Amino acid sequence: MTASMVDDQTALKLDSVWRGAHVATMKEGRYSIIKDAAIGVVDGRIAWLGEADLLPKYQAKQEHDLDGGWVTPGLIDCHTHLVFGGNRAGEFEQRLNGVSYQEIAKQGGGIASSVNATRAASEAELVVSATRRLKSLMADGVTTIEIKSGYGLSLDSELKMLRVAAVLEQQFPVTIKRTCLAAHAMPPEFDNKDAYIDYLCETVLPKVAELGLADAVDAFCEGIAFSTEQVSRYFKRAQELKLPVKIHAEQLSALGGTRMAASYQALSADHLEFMEESDVQAMAESGTVAVLLPGAFYTLKETQLPPLDLLRQYGVDIAIATDANPGTSPALSLRLMMNMACTLFGMTPEAALAGATIHAAKALGISESHGSLEVGKVADFVCWDVESPGELCYWLGGQLVKQRIQHGVCHE
Ligand code: NIG
Ligand code: FE
Repeated sequence: MTASMVDDQTALKLDSVWRGAHVATMKEGRYSIIKDAAIGVVDGRIAWLGEADLLPKYQAKQEHDLDGGWVTPGLIDCHTHLVFGGNRAGEFEQRLNGVSYQEIAKQGGGIASSVNATRAASEAELVVSATRRLKSLMADGVTTIEIKSGYGLSLDSELKMLRVAAVLEQQFPVTIKRTCLAAHAMPPEFDNKDAYIDYLCETVLPKVAELGLADAVDAFCEGIAFSTEQVSRYFKRAQELKLPVKIHAEQLSALGGTRMAASYQALSADHLEFMEESDVQAMAESGTVAVLLPGAFYTLKETQLPPLDLLRQYGVDIAIATDANPGTSPALSLRLMMNMACTLFGMTPEAALAGATIHAAKALGISESHGSLEVGKVADFVCWDVESPGELCYWLGGQLVKQRIQHGVCHE
């Protein structure tokens, strides 16, 4: 046996090695920095991570020099309504002329107008319009995105929206988690909210579960949408069908939807500006993630801030998302939302980055495999053209992505 044969056998076998940058791993929600790092990938997962100088002898099919900058986990946008027909720029103008979001909804605008446009659009048209938005988010560093239904509000059109989300995942290098938000608003065919919830429990949720089209179930708990009792009934059915739940709650008023959702071990409760201490306590006990949506807060010119101090005091994990939707948050950059979480909500850049990575992964139930850079996790990461990770929250817009790697493969 020759010396080189022995070497070949003992060398670490890697598909690819990435070096030439610093890494903020976001392990445990902190920057957890590795300077001058190397990342070794096998089968789309991280097989080795540490200081490049400590990399053992290896053989790699591909070597990549990142040539400076910082690497972070790929950003995770854990709350979007990316698939919809039309847009609501006209309502934006109405709101600036003093008409409130609730008034627009009462006049048949708001979510109802997106429902009409979404129902009228073909699956192919929805794929095309959502693609433009998806590409913007991806170009700004997103590698995983959650997409909700909720502008269909009938069996066929809810299934159509979820299928569009599935098609997008087949067409683009991005991981997509699908959420059934059939309890988003009242469809025009129904005039009784309880009867619509019965329909969702008896017809829509069982079909969505049978087809495996959703990873989770969501509801809008609010005066202009559904009561805590109605959402609770819908969650009970979701739980029977083995689908985890999430909730839009305490966005415009305090109804206690958050503590009700926590009693179902909700993955996340989202919005939360009007939440009370008992909601925060319930979330801490159930491990429910608080998803804050500064884009909706900003667009609606909300003045009631989510209770950051209470969330911190009870140790609730906080995620940040775009809530990309045609009404309250036409946001196409998760990094801009991170900036707004800092400037509007008083979060630190480190906490905002954790909110768009590891805590966002937890809000989707995938933190075992995504959200931080650790051996064994999926090799989804972004190399940014910045001198410190805090710059990701500092710049308003701009193009900071140097390379976006999904499952160990560079896509741009
Ligand atoms: O997350 N809060 C309810 N749903 C969306 C708004 C959807 C819309 O206005 O179309 C949200 O903000
Ligand atoms: Fe939303």
